[in-house]
Amino acid sequence: MNQAITVPDLGVQGDVEVIEVNVAVGDRVAQNDALLVLESDKASMELPAPMSGIVREILLKIGDRVRQGDTVLMLEVDASTALAPALDKALEQPVVEEHKAVQQPAPVVSKSTAAALPIDHDDSSIHAGPAVRKLARELGVELGRVAPSGPRQRVLKDDLNAYIKEMVQKAQSPDFGLSPSTPAPLPDFSQFGEVSVRELSRIQALTAKGMLNSWVTAPQVTQFDQADITELEQFRKEQKARAESAGVKLTVLPFLLKACAYALKALPQLNVSIDVAQQRIIDKHYVHIGIAVDTPHGLFVPVVRDVDKKSILELAQEVAVLAQSAADKKLLPGQLQGASFTISSLGSIGGTAFTPIVNVPEVAILGVSKAQMQPVFVNGQFVPRLMLPLSLSYDHRAVNGAEAARFTSLLGQLLGDIRNLLL
Ligand code: COA
Repeated sequence: MNQAITVPDLGVQGDVEVIEVNVAVGDRVAQNDALLVLESDKASMELPAPMSGIVREILLKIGDRVRQGDTVLMLEVDASTALAPALDKALEQPVVEEHKAVQQPAPVVSKSTAAALPIDHDDSSIHAGPAVRKLARELGVELGRVAPSGPRQRVLKDDLNAYIKEMVQKAQSPDFGLSPSTPAPLPDFSQFGEVSVRELSRIQALTAKGMLNSWVTAPQVTQFDQADITELEQFRKEQKARAESAGVKLTVLPFLLKACAYALKALPQLNVSIDVAQQRIIDKHYVHIGIAVDTPHGLFVPVVRDVDKKSILELAQEVAVLAQSAADKKLLPGQLQGASFTISSLGSIGGTAFTPIVNVPEVAILGVSKAQMQPVFVNGQFVPRLMLPLSLSYDHRAVNGAEAARFTSLLGQLLGDIRNLLL
């Protein structure tokens, strides 16, 4: 038998808004299961099923406004249900949650209901229906940690389920939940001033995910150093015209690539990946170096392969092609994979030092800032030298501080006298 379920006397003037529909057509509900949540400006009220049965039709949706007597849904009532007494009892007792900001008493609060569903003191400023609060309490979830998706920042049952699912997945993951997590919900910034909102591009979203993963996965330290590139710069300027006639722009970057490849071969502890789950280190017998490229679409890190086997001019040419492909969004997936080390050069822009983030599963990244003329004390006197700031961040699980200091020191020697690269 189908029974029309109607809105009981809610004890409020006028109509109220439907803010949650907790059932779908075909659902089996037990007596007192929440059917929907209504909200007036003073209180949220959960409407319980007056009897058990199967939902056959739902006659309203979220956002509708209803008043006493309106039909909510059609329920195919179980034959055994004692209809009249149960209906009367349930409809007299909608479960009410008072809005904390409102001073007036909530319209209908049965003592027994209030006792059965007390509002947790710490969560009292959070918007959530009594059923969600009850479930959260049973599971020991602080509602403030759950990202709300309902109207007016309301925590819905689905939000609670999503939160619990995420926590369970974390607890069961090999790193015991240390992987990137969902940040706490942001405040409504429009309360502080005018704002507008833009969607993240795909590359921005991927970069954000990758950065967070690197940040929480690898304990990182940055080793600072300087390389005297006075002679290198002189050589570069001498060779620049020659390179240009071959269609190549000769910057500091190809020299840095070559020096890093040399240092990675000499100190292979930085050319590895660490696999903590399997308790092992993977040594790379190749030298592929990623270069961070800034484009209007975001940050790309194309990879120069076999850097140790290429000449400075070949490297200069390849960097130019990769940087242009990045700007044109034409990099192929294979060109973005397989690096064993990364260089992030901000030298053409400025700055004295920075702490780049290791591109996990690599274990080190070299940040390069702007070369500046500096007085350097040589043979008893100050002489002007062009000094290049180096910032080497490394994953301290795989690389020791001494190894990192040896690496930047070696880079200094190589860049200080590029004849060393020939040896
Ligand atoms: N100190 C002083 N000058 C420098 C320098 C440094 N460390 N690095 C580059 N320059 C100079 C170059 O020599 C060149 O000068 P020139 O025209 O007199 O020859 C000028 O700055 C412009 O160089 P640029 O065209 O940028 O070439 P590059 O080879 O140095 O860098 C890219 C190429 C693609 C890496 C660079 O354009 C880029 O995108 N950098 C940003 C990387 C980034 O965003 N990193 C952050 C990641 S978190």
